[in-house]
Amino acid sequence: MKKIIALYPGTFDPITNGHLDIIERASSLFDRVIVTIALNSSKKPLFSEDERKEMILQELKKHKNVEVGAFRGLLVEYAKKKKASVIIRGLRAISDYEYEFQMALTNRKISPEVTTMFMMPNEKYTYLNSTLVKELAAFKGNIKCFVPKFVEKKLREKFKNRL
Ligand code: COA
Repeated sequence: MKKIIALYPGTFDPITNGHLDIIERASSLFDRVIVTIALNSSKKPLFSEDERKEMILQELKKHKNVEVGAFRGLLVEYAKKKKASVIIRGLRAISDYEYEFQMALTNRKISPEVTTMFMMPNEKYTYLNSTLVKELAAFKGNIKCFVPKFVEKKLREKFKNRL
């Protein structure tokens, strides 16, 4: 039987409980899941590639079939390189839909052998994003319910000497 490899791409600056929710769902459906950090996004990440990897890896220990990767360039090219046939994206709200629809169809046009699949995280994470968490952390707000412990520690360190 062919093993199904899925990529879960994103900026992960940093990984949040919402991302982990999707990873958990994906891990139970696919043979291998590669949490894939996009390095050439137009965003200016707070955390370096290594820092983001470290935070993700810390949380992946309990999932034997999940690993972490990173890429520059086109996502579908990375999928080909990794022999992945599925791209997973989380859909949190209707506002995600238009952008995701455009991206999924573009990726399908340039690489029909790769299928994008959407998953909904638990509703308690539907309003969450990494920017929100960083803003809260920057102003010393409570982020315990949004990120795992290790990520919370890293965010605290980052913003220790700011403000
Ligand atoms: N829980 C919590 N937050 C979530 C989430 C979830 N389940 N799913 C997404 N988010 C948040 C992210 O934290 C992120 O927050 P931020 O904007 O504050 O940083 C935001 O939603 C969306 O980001 P993300 O899922 O990381 O996607 P992205 O838009 O940054 O990245 C890529 C999209 C990188 C996958 C896409 O641009 C890509 O593939 N680029 C490579 C180039 C390419 O191939 N282009 C052609 C595609 S058409």
